[in-house]
Amino acid sequence: MLLNNKVFLVTGASGGIGSALTSRLAEEGTQLILVGRSEKKLREVIAQTGKSIITYYNCDFNNSRRIIDICDKIRGSFPILDGLINVAGVGIYSPFERSSLKDFKAMLNVNIMAPFLFTSYLLDRLKKSKQSFVMNIGSGAGTIPMKNRSTYCASKFALRGLTLSLAEEFDGRQPKFCLITLGSTLTNFGGKPLEEKKKEFTKGQAYFPVEWVVNRLKEIIKDENRATEITLFPGDHGFGVWNKP
Ligand SMILES: NC(=O)c1ccc[n+]([C@@H]2O[C@H](COP(=O)([O-])OP(=O)(O)OC[C@H]3O[C@@H](n4cnc5c(N)ncnc54)[C@H](OP(=O)(O)O)[C@@H]3O)[C@@H](O)[C@H]2O)c1
Repeated sequence: MLLNNKVFLVTGASGGIGSALTSRLAEEGTQLILVGRSEKKLREVIAQTGKSIITYYNCDFNNSRRIIDICDKIRGSFPILDGLINVAGVGIYSPFERSSLKDFKAMLNVNIMAPFLFTSYLLDRLKKSKQSFVMNIGSGAGTIPMKNRSTYCASKFALRGLTLSLAEEFDGRQPKFCLITLGSTLTNFGGKPLEEKKKEFTKGQAYFPVEWVVNRLKEIIKDENRATEITLFPGDHGFGVWNKP
């Protein structure tokens, strides 16, 4: 599909992958609605990206009511939505015996509840576009069980179940659903600082450069025959060797 003048909503637009994807889509002339938690970071992204941004909303996804209010505003302003890209995510890794209910709820709210709410409350707008899609950014942690990441894995397994089930339910009609099962990428995600990840990368540990990921995401979005699950692991593309945590 041509991306020029399509209207996409990107969550997590203030983050490492979301902000780079925003820039890449803006270059294609896509009209973007951005959602992020930090208004300051969103403003910085907008300053760098320019006129393709139609509007933005800052929102903490622990507040479901605010997500629904944002969807109502979008529904009031946009008769059609061509794409919903749920990039926002949070990873709080800890041994189970040190996992708290607060952290688990935070991961469920951001990683599964927010994609559910945006999809649910914007579905009628997505159904009006002939080429619409919902892309959810999952994780290897949504297919591979990992010790000391059980609660994060649970949230991403849930996102995988939701996305792949909706892909079956909406087979032959809009929107199309697509899950990106993504491996480690060079951002600040998950608590380990980016600089430390860069050092590990230079020693051979598997990480994707962000630019590689967003170029690939752009190509996947353009491809209307995209698969419902696309697995991108850095070790499969020459970016180091992955050691299971
Ligand atoms: N980086 C990796 O190694 C990796 C690997 C596999 C999958 N992923 C997935 O890729 C996606 C993007 O991650 P990233 O690497 O770009 O991470 P990132 O740089 O940490 O960005 C995370 C984004 O999520 C937003 N967010 C976090 N908590 C939120 C909350 N409570 N309410 C609303 N928004 C919230 C952040 O908003 P603010 O910045 O405004 O706070 C930011 O925009 C996530 O879904 C992640 O699970 C990442």
